Amino acid sequence: MAHTELHDIAQALVADGKGILAADESGGTIKKRFDTIDLESTEETRRAYRDMLFTTPGAEEFISGVILYDETIRQNAHDGTPFPQLLESKGIIPGIKVDLGAKPLALAEGETITEGLDGLRERFKEYHDLGARFAKWRAVYTITDELPSEYAIWTNAHALARYAALSQEAGIVPIVEPEVLQDGTHAIERSYHVSSQVLNALYTELFDQRVDLEGTLLKPNMVLSGYGASNRAGVDDVAARSLKSYYKHVPAAVPGIVFLSGGQSDEDATAHLNAMNARAPHPWKLSFSYGRALQAPALAAWGGKPENVEAGQRAFYHRAKMNSAATSGLYAPEMEREAVAV
Ligand code: 13P
Repeated sequence: MAHTELHDIAQALVADGKGILAADESGGTIKKRFDTIDLESTEETRRAYRDMLFTTPGAEEFISGVILYDETIRQNAHDGTPFPQLLESKGIIPGIKVDLGAKPLALAEGETITEGLDGLRERFKEYHDLGARFAKWRAVYTITDELPSEYAIWTNAHALARYAALSQEAGIVPIVEPEVLQDGTHAIERSYHVSSQVLNALYTELFDQRVDLEGTLLKPNMVLSGYGASNRAGVDDVAARSLKSYYKHVPAAVPGIVFLSGGQSDEDATAHLNAMNARAPHPWKLSFSYGRALQAPALAAWGGKPENVEAGQRAFYHRAKMNSAATSGLYAPEMEREAVAV
């Protein structure tokens, strides 16, 4: 694999006005999402839900790539087309979540290490054959007064870099996702400090393990006050703190930063992204790789009912369009009221 091909894929994922849909919920997570609409999670309901999202007319105007789960990459649309081929036919790049989840980190109460490195070279080969051209690995860190420990920060950074190296070897662009959870009562300064420590360790390990940064994307949390904090920071403060952290710790060789939404409201996730892009130019593209913040209104509008497929698609199209506007700093809350025809 020529490195330039990885660079081209990474750049295509952050093409102007476009971002990524994270639709790679594991079995446990998608069940939690379906519980909110009283829908049983079966292989067929999961397939039907992803079918609704992926066949949304016009979504490709705003969506460059979709992250799939192991089950989903093997499923078909209602007309029998395998999902990866369906996406490709719309000019959307198929991606794959390859980590096997965060497990308790030995001798580190309350902390986790993300697993999935054993056999990953072989799994990458299969995923490439199935059509995946980019991948995702998520590490998770909790903020308390004492945590995360240096131990959790560096072991997870090491694993992220091992994953990224194997991914590039397979001709697949690695998205590295170190998620600092924003639950708790911490002030934004604490989130800034922890998020920066995590990025520092990650880019040290990526450099040491010879990962070609131009063929990667970063998927971080935004720097926020804890969801339970009093006096939570406003949109401008979030944008300023987040950017300060990236300017210090994310090399300019990285083509794009594609955020997770991490439990923010849909409109907060859009407004924060917009505020960062309103301060452009930046060395990297700033875009989205949202799960909940792209899907929540679509899931609610669909409700698991075939007769609501179009309503679900309208809701998904609208959120994708709002986030697309935010990639160029052109989003305004008034746009939320515009009716969007599918
Ligand atoms: P959220 O946007 O719902 O945080 O999901 C993004 C994601 O892929 C988490 O791994």
